[in-house]
Amino acid sequence: MTLQTDSSAPVPYLDLPAQMRAIRRDIDAAIARTLDKCSFCLGPDVAQFEKEFARFCGAEHCVGLNSGTSALHVAMKLLNIGPGDEVITTPCTFVATSWAISYVGAKPVYVDVDDATFCLDSNQVADAITPRTKAILPVHLYGHPADLDPLLGICRQHRLPLVEDAAQAHGAKYRGKVVGTFGAVSCFSFYPGKNLGAYGEGGALVTNDAAYAARARALREHGSVQRYYHDEIGFNYRMEGIQGAVLGVKLKHLDTWTHERRRVAHRYHQLLADTPLQLPHEAAYAESAYHLYVVRHPRRDDLKKHLEANKVGCALHYPVSLHLQKCYADLGYRPGDFPVAEKAARECLSLPIYPEMTDTQIQRVAAVVGEFFR
Ligand SMILES: Cc1ncc(COP(=O)(O)O)c(C=O)c1O
Repeated sequence: MTLQTDSSAPVPYLDLPAQMRAIRRDIDAAIARTLDKCSFCLGPDVAQFEKEFARFCGAEHCVGLNSGTSALHVAMKLLNIGPGDEVITTPCTFVATSWAISYVGAKPVYVDVDDATFCLDSNQVADAITPRTKAILPVHLYGHPADLDPLLGICRQHRLPLVEDAAQAHGAKYRGKVVGTFGAVSCFSFYPGKNLGAYGEGGALVTNDAAYAARARALREHGSVQRYYHDEIGFNYRMEGIQGAVLGVKLKHLDTWTHERRRVAHRYHQLLADTPLQLPHEAAYAESAYHLYVVRHPRRDDLKKHLEANKVGCALHYPVSLHLQKCYADLGYRPGDFPVAEKAARECLSLPIYPEMTDTQIQRVAAVVGEFFR
């Protein structure tokens, strides 16, 4: 817990040291055990974490990888997606969602997002399906689950797999069930700032399909089941032993941390209710894991400057919609193609949110926001 009594003290956007302090002793012991075993790449700590994270998600299998980006790439490989294929996804996300599609030579086909949740708008997905469509890839953005039932209905109707990008949504619930098993495959990131973050890079693929899990295990190890025999072209996507050990310690705290994130979010809802900001919406079907607390306002850039001038951390997620990124210019999208995503890019601002935030800090953020509008 960050001890803070000074109501004008700076509020960092993220406070990883606060979390580290709370669990340092267990982390040190876990890392020491890994060092003693010299199990640096995969090994027993990763295997144990995989078991525990699968259980956490209510899934049969978890495959530990070296990043969320790798998990998404492997997911595309498992579904045999390749050149000439299309994958329907959202332009309102971190670029790695799209990298996976590009890495296998397929084409991201963007569909606009829902104005309330910023997640893929299921009402617009069916119109984007073509004979080349091979999968639908929604993102549980900012920790808020995408509306999965209508998307799964479309998938069933068109015999398409759904892949969940759950990189920001560990422990988020859709209709009371933790995300991660709604799709054929789900992908998580354990980047340090994530709700469940490693002390370096990390990711995982979660599935109920034994064949997918087995192939993912081979793909992460250079395409081999038996060492030095390579059945297909693979990758070095192994999770490090130390990350497995760290994640094993941290997973035990995840439910409490999610609860605390929700506390912070609810407090912001109360304190910011009378400002002109558009606050994050939690759909009736959702229990958000509040990876981020993203508010919206047309004067976002001025508000950002005001917060920074008053030493309140904030960030932009994400300032450029993917269909307008330079790297995707050849896809031929234009400004105006996805008005909701573009408006989000112009207006969104992420306020500090982490389990260790004190009420004093939350009040300080709200007060500085309030000053801006007075
Ligand atoms: C929505 C989303 N997808 C994928 C990723 C990629 O994860 P990683 O950074 O672990 O490769 C991230 C991470 O930032 C993300 O936020």
